[in-house]
Amino acid sequence: MQFELTEEQMAVKEAARNFTQQELLPGVIERDREMKYPKNQVRRMAEMGFLGMMVSTEYGGGGMDTLSYVLAMEEISKVDASCAVIMSVNNSLVCWGLEAFGNEAQKQKYLTRLATGEWIGAFCLSEPEAGSDATHQRTTAVDMGDYYLLNGTKNWITNGGTSNVHLVMAQTHSEKGHHGINCLIVETDWDGVVIGAKEDKLGIRASDTHSIMYNDVKVPKENRIGDDGFGFKFAMKTLDGGRIGIAAQALGIAGGAYELALAYAKEREAFGKSISKHQAIAFKIADMATDIEAAKLLVYRAAWLKDQGMDYSTASAMAKVFASETAMKHTIEAVQIHGGYGYVKEYHVERLLRDAKITQIYEGTSEVQRIVISRSVLQGQLYVPIWSEKMQPV
Ligand code: CAA
Repeated sequence: MQFELTEEQMAVKEAARNFTQQELLPGVIERDREMKYPKNQVRRMAEMGFLGMMVSTEYGGGGMDTLSYVLAMEEISKVDASCAVIMSVNNSLVCWGLEAFGNEAQKQKYLTRLATGEWIGAFCLSEPEAGSDATHQRTTAVDMGDYYLLNGTKNWITNGGTSNVHLVMAQTHSEKGHHGINCLIVETDWDGVVIGAKEDKLGIRASDTHSIMYNDVKVPKENRIGDDGFGFKFAMKTLDGGRIGIAAQALGIAGGAYELALAYAKEREAFGKSISKHQAIAFKIADMATDIEAAKLLVYRAAWLKDQGMDYSTASAMAKVFASETAMKHTIEAVQIHGGYGYVKEYHVERLLRDAKITQIYEGTSEVQRIVISRSVLQGQLYVPIWSEKMQPV
């Protein structure tokens, strides 16, 4: 087992940390309060190469491994979870999906622009009546010969109002159930694409979340990803990687709250000594540190499995469910450690608490992750048994 990061991975982590402190921290509270899209910050993330980190260099990406992407996501999420989700969707749901399953023409036309951040992408699966139950897509893509006629509504779409390209899941052959779903690449300036109002959210308020309506949108046949009916598998395979990104976001949110709580606990005094020297606070800090380390191991392991070309579906579900629950649990504790200061907006931890909640919901709720994990465990597919047979207790 190798727990050390490579020099390149450490350099990515440091670059992301410096960038975050210098360019994302200023104004983060105001952007949250005003629901202000971080336009300049996203442009700078593009210039820094954070929007297409895992894309091959031949398509304009960074050619980095998943662990490097996770490290950058973690650092950025410690301060600005809104910027982190914009980055995550573009990297893992849009660019990765296109590179893994798109054809050469699609990669040349779309991936090259998305990887550099010239264009931003969105992933359109959720519908008003199909969230966790994603097989029941009501959006339709009727085969009209040389194009599809797209109609329907998508909900809670990250990058919904600011993206140039949508990957849209839609039903073409309803008699085939999920085997009849296609994924279509849709340019947002095409006739019939209507962007709904921006959602007023509990957390990640600066990120851009919209419903989208498609009214008789003509999508050329060459914009279908993969074979006819591949759309649901495309969505599931892409989400397996997306969940690693969200797990890294949750890990970062927890880590950010922990760093703030630790610093505050050392500095704040009560009853004649630093509150960190009171066991009530010291034990909270011990639990935070332990859970964050455990989450880190799960998240990094899922990234490592993906980089090794091994199955990572269950590992990414485990990483997401554990990291997101860690983020919820310990952002609450960080507020508690800050006392009254933690409850006001100037101290960051209340925002991190609000930001943490979404990591248990999007890209598959915690309940969906438990479906994935329990099926894998019950079917005996869990990767790497912890104990070899010889070590089983008798
Ligand atoms: N990889 C490849 N194929 C997969 C797969 C995976 N990880 N998971 C399922 N499949 C395949 C199955 O093998 C099956 O194929 P066959 O019929 O050919 O055997 C097919 O997909 C259907 O699978 P299930 O029978 O398991 O389907 P189900 O109805 O029981 O649902 C589910 C499974 C895991 C609950 C799935 O529907 C799911 O993940 N739901 C949550 C959707 C989700 O994550 N939405 C997030 C929206 S995106 C978002 O949030 C983006 C954003 O903007 C931040």
